[in-house]
Amino acid sequence: MKTYQIAVIPGDGIGKEVVAEGVKVLKKIAELDKNFDFNFDYFPWGCEYYLKTKKMMDDDGLEQLRKYDAIYLGAVGFPTVPDHLSLRELLLKIRTGFDQYVNLRPVKLLKGAPCPLKGKEPKDIDFVVIRENSEGEYAGLGEWHNKGQSDEFVYQTGKFTRKGVERIIRYAFELARREGRHKVTSVTKGNALNYSMVFWDQVFHEVAKEYPDIESNQLMVDAASMTMVLRPETLDVVVTSNLFGDILTDLGAAIAGGMGLAAGDNLNPEKKYPSMFESIHGSAPDIAGKGIANPIAQIWAAGGLLRHLGYVNWYNKLIESFETLLTEKKVLTPDLGGKCSTSDVGDELCRILERGF
Ligand code: NAD
Ligand code: IPM
Ligand code: MN
Repeated sequence: MKTYQIAVIPGDGIGKEVVAEGVKVLKKIAELDKNFDFNFDYFPWGCEYYLKTKKMMDDDGLEQLRKYDAIYLGAVGFPTVPDHLSLRELLLKIRTGFDQYVNLRPVKLLKGAPCPLKGKEPKDIDFVVIRENSEGEYAGLGEWHNKGQSDEFVYQTGKFTRKGVERIIRYAFELARREGRHKVTSVTKGNALNYSMVFWDQVFHEVAKEYPDIESNQLMVDAASMTMVLRPETLDVVVTSNLFGDILTDLGAAIAGGMGLAAGDNLNPEKKYPSMFESIHGSAPDIAGKGIANPIAQIWAAGGLLRHLGYVNWYNKLIESFETLLTEKKVLTPDLGGKCSTSDVGDELCRILERGF
């Protein structure tokens, strides 16, 4: 029996509440499968830890995490700790430190999930966003001049390397081939960002030529936002930069049932370092501590973890269990119009998996 070593970072706010349900479901799946098991080690890092220690994670945090098969992260962020500090010192440090350059975020309307778009069904909203996750607008480069003076100014610099841009675009085309998808859409803003996005567009054009079997096209990010709302069925694989991918995937969550139903994988495809799995929502201070957060996003992230370990069958079964739950509409959290708690949903998903839908 294989035992996988999982590093769990529940983080802050609802992160803790939804991670508990993800772990519950992972344990249930290991029990049902019988061929593998998990050992979960918990790390108390996050904003509470920062308020006590002035550190978001231990100095040797990355070394501590390195030996794990995967990292399972809840959410980070607390109103009294500046976000640019807390997120850069923990979440972004892990993404870049472990070269998790692929942020794979499905935008998939599940059967039974609410959709705010008129006339759109699950078959119309089913694409994958491949977000560049290691550089770009998130490089953290810039300068702050004349602080506090009337002529104060700042530069925030994006860093786009040939290696970084090429590998993410190639990943998108390879994923399209692997998953039998037919089209890759690159989303940029070359008409305004005259270095970074013109460069990206050029690299996209070059790489696309290597994949004549996959259709390719380009959209400006403003037009892509409109397309996601009006014609989401025309999207299949979307590849985009760090910042645009962040923004578009919240929009993606909104068209596919809300923040409680959106997750993603932070992947180091070469498996040189552990990959990390998380819901895309934040710590939601407005509902934290009430036990009403929807845990499906975080459990979906556990599905990504299983798929990464080679259990795509369990990924698919989890999606099916969400669809059963959403279609039955008996056990739902308030964001989906229900009255149930976070742990009720985790328990019900375990029951659905156990009974086999
Ligand atoms: P958020 O995603 O935490 O919340 C946005 C809205 O969605 C809120 O109204 C919230 O109640 C709702 N929501 C989110 N997840 C939900 C769930 N599972 N069930 C039901 N409702 C849900 O975004 P925010 O308010 O902009 O950010 C709050 C904090 O989280 C900030 O500190 C931010 O920097 C941080 N953040 C962290 C991550 C991360 O750790 N990956 C991601 C995004 C934001
Ligand atoms: C996300 C979050 C993070 C990001 C923030 C919290 C730094 O919004 O994972 O989508 O922008 O990547
Ligand atoms: Mn985001």
